[in-house]
Amino acid sequence: MEHFIINGKKPLAGKVLISGSKNATLPIMAASLISNGEVVLKGVPDLEDITVMSEALKLFGAKVDRENDTLIINSRNLNSCELPEDISRKMRASNLVMGALLARFNEAKVAYPGGCAIGTRPMDLHLKGFESLGHRISDGHSYMTGKGGNLEGTEILLDFPSVGATENIMMAASVIPGITTIRNAAREPEIIDLQNFLNCLGAKITGAGSDTIRIKGVNELGSGEHQIIPDRIEAGTFMVAAAITRGEVELQNVILEHIQPVVAKLKEIGVEVIPYKAGLIVKANKRLRNTDIKTMPYPGFPTDMQAQMMALLATVNGTSIIVETIFENRFMHVQELRRMAAEIKIEGRVAIIKGKSKLEGAIVEATDLRAGAALVLAGLAAEGETIINKIAHIDRGYDKFHIKLSDLGAEIIRKLE
Ligand code: UD1
Repeated sequence: MEHFIINGKKPLAGKVLISGSKNATLPIMAASLISNGEVVLKGVPDLEDITVMSEALKLFGAKVDRENDTLIINSRNLNSCELPEDISRKMRASNLVMGALLARFNEAKVAYPGGCAIGTRPMDLHLKGFESLGHRISDGHSYMTGKGGNLEGTEILLDFPSVGATENIMMAASVIPGITTIRNAAREPEIIDLQNFLNCLGAKITGAGSDTIRIKGVNELGSGEHQIIPDRIEAGTFMVAAAITRGEVELQNVILEHIQPVVAKLKEIGVEVIPYKAGLIVKANKRLRNTDIKTMPYPGFPTDMQAQMMALLATVNGTSIIVETIFENRFMHVQELRRMAAEIKIEGRVAIIKGKSKLEGAIVEATDLRAGAALVLAGLAAEGETIINKIAHIDRGYDKFHIKLSDLGAEIIRKLE
C-alpha cells in the first residue's frame, strides 16, 4: 500500500501554485451532461475524484478528453441515464449527476452513494427538491430513481443550506419551464462557479452567492468554455502548512475573498497574511496562540479546513476549542493526531485542544481526505519520522500534494511498500 514518509521540522519556504477547485469542478462536470454540445473546462485539477467523475460521464455515453489541465466533454450522444453502484460508491459527489440526468433525460437512476467516514450524509433535501419540480421520485435501498411528471418551476425552501442539494436543484431546474426559486440556498463560491458555467451554456440563473437563487428555465443548454475557480481548501491547507512549520510561503492563484474565514483565524493566532496582486504571502515567525473555531456554512469557517486547523492548534500556546456543526462524525483525525502526542479531548461535537510546542512522528492512517491532509501537516511539524498510510484518501482531493510540499522544502516521499 502506498504511503508518505515525512521527516518533520523543516520550515517551508517558496512559492506554490494552487490548482483549480475540486468541489467546483465536480458539479460542473456533472452539469456538462445537460449540454447538447461541447464543453471546455480549464484549470481542472489532476485528482482521483475527477477521474471517477470522468468514468461516470463516459458510462452515460459522453466523450471526455483531458489535455493537461483542460477537460473537453462532449455530451451530444448520451445513451444511458443510470449510474451503477460500483462507480457511485467510489465517490460521494457522484450523486451530483442526478440533477443533470433529470434535466437531460427527464429520467435518472442513480445508485445511492451511501454514508461515508464523516457522517451518514442523506440525500433527502436533493430528492425533496426534485419532487417539488414535478419529478416522481422513488428512494429505494440502493437506487434513487426520478422520472419527469408535470415539470414546472417552483419555490423550494431548503431546511439546511446544503451545497450538493443547491447544485443538484440548480441543474435540474435549468431546463424546466417557468421560474424556480431556491431559498436558504448554500452560498459557497463553488455555487457561483456552477451558475457562471451553466449561464455560459445558455442557462438563466441569478443570485448564486446569496441565499436566494432564481432559475428561469430555458429549452436547452449548448456549448461553452469555462475557467474553474482556484481551490480554496487547497489554498487553506498550504496556508496552514506554512504556519505549522513556522515558515514563509507565497500562494499563487488564490481568491482572497473565498478564504477569508481561514485568513481571519490565522491572523487571530498570530500568523501574518499579506495579500498582493497575484496571491498572498503567509508568514509565521512569531509565537502563535490559541483560538476557538466553529464550522459553519459559507461564509463561516469551512468544515473542510477543520482537521488541518486542529493540527495547527495542537502546536500553539494555550487551549483551543473547535465545534464541528456540519458533519456528525468529523473528528476521525483526533485519534491519529493523539498518536503524534497531540493533546486533544472530544466531547460530542466539541474538541478541546491543549496546544504544546512538540508533536512526535508516528505511524498513522488517513481516514478521510481532510483528515489525511491534517496528518501530513502534523508530520511536517513533528519531531522525527511520520508514516501516513491509506493515502488514497489524500489523492482524492490534493493535486500533486507531496511534490508541491517537497518544492517548498518539506522532506516527504511517497513509497510503495
Ligand atoms: C460539499 C463538499 C464537501 C463539504 C460540504 C460542506 C463537494 C463535492 N463536497 O459536500 O467537501 O464538506 O459541502 O461544506 O462539494 N444533508 C442532509 N440532507 C441532504 C443533504 C445534506 O441532511 O439532502 C446534511 C449532510 O448530512 C451534512 C450537511 O447537510 O451534515 C452538509 O452537507 P452538504 O452541504 O450537502 O455537503 P455536500 O454537498 O455533500
